[in-house]
Amino acid sequence: MVRTPQHTNRREICNQASESFYLCAHVKGHMLMRSRILLFAFFAWCVVTMVIAEQLDEQILHDPPPADEDALAQVTLTIEEMALGGESRSLDRLHLVFETNPEWREIVAVAIAKYSETQSRRAQDWRLLVRSLAVVEGEDARTIMRALLGFRQRSTKPRWQRQLILLGLQLGDNSAEDTVNLLKHWTGVKVEPNEQSENAMANWQAWFAKTYPDQPTAVLPQLPAEAKWQYEALRHFLGGNEGVLGDAQRGRSVFERADCFKCHRYGKHGEVLGPDLTQISGRMQRKEILHAILFPSELVPDQFLTYSVVIVDGRTLTGIVGRSGSDEVVILQTNGEKVTLKKDQIEESVLNKQSAMPVGTLERLTKQEIADLFAFMQSRSE
Ligand code: HEC
Repeated sequence: MVRTPQHTNRREICNQASESFYLCAHVKGHMLMRSRILLFAFFAWCVVTMVIAEQLDEQILHDPPPADEDALAQVTLTIEEMALGGESRSLDRLHLVFETNPEWREIVAVAIAKYSETQSRRAQDWRLLVRSLAVVEGEDARTIMRALLGFRQRSTKPRWQRQLILLGLQLGDNSAEDTVNLLKHWTGVKVEPNEQSENAMANWQAWFAKTYPDQPTAVLPQLPAEAKWQYEALRHFLGGNEGVLGDAQRGRSVFERADCFKCHRYGKHGEVLGPDLTQISGRMQRKEILHAILFPSELVPDQFLTYSVVIVDGRTLTGIVGRSGSDEVVILQTNGEKVTLKKDQIEESVLNKQSAMPVGTLERLTKQEIADLFAFMQSRSE
């Protein structure tokens, strides 16, 4: 047979066809195999991600942030990825951590700030960012301020405007611009006659005192130089190896000896002249608790404001004033005694700027006792 180019082609085509059939089957097998491997890998990835997410959940919901720097950097990155992923479930989770495990507040807030700046500005995130101003410091504080500047919302509450001025003072010159920009945005006021940054903050302090005469002034609080315990030193101690290892059992007796029960409830014991402290570690960071103890008058919640009440017989009683029925008031005095008076027995009542909580409650304690006291307040049980 004469081989025509056509024949050749046909046979070649035939050959090619059978080859490709074989190849096809081969490839198909391979592909099947590969897709099984891929499927398996996908499942394995899902399981690993779930395990990591669960471990992360456990860690951020119950433990404090790790002390080890590398571990901290790793978990901070994971939390940022969680926020930037933008899934509402992850964002809700981060809000829950912010609410229930205060020691994570800076890390969560910075992650939410980055999400707000790059993706979406949500009202609930704005509220979280404002509240984080109570704890953020340094570069984190600047990140939060810049993120807040991107929102249309403004905080008109004196508490947060004051906090912003205090942060500006703490941060010093290089952050004055961020602080002042946000203050201007929130207040709609321009207080900036000097370009010198420190003076800019001084002018805002003066503006605050004039605008809110009833509020504590916007001045960084200081203890007398001779005080045994200064805030920074104790904070450092309580964050270090010795300070975190207090004994809750011994701490309970320190709480008792230092008269804390006289005004505070813990579990089933104590009085209610001050806030119930049973859940304090679920509401505040250790550094905030320390700050509240060293500087009681810094931030007195409305329900614990005290009044000096002058009554018709000339005596002055000081305490928390509550109503009883339509024509009686009850005064829970700072000495722990309760008095009920008719309204018309009261001549005058004046709001006190000072807290009912005395200053210097830690002065008589040793470092170890302070660590124990904090372990007790962290224990959340009685
Ligand atoms: C004479 C009453 C009194 C005594 C004694 C007292 N406190 Fe207080 N404490 C208060 C009042 C009132 C407040 C709320 C106003 C304020 O923040 O100053 C308060 C606030 C606090 C806060 C802030 C709580 C919060 O939710 O903001 C902490 C923490 C605290 N006290 C711890 C202690 C500890 C620890 C002791 C003992 C070493 C103690 N206090 C002794 C009255 C007292």
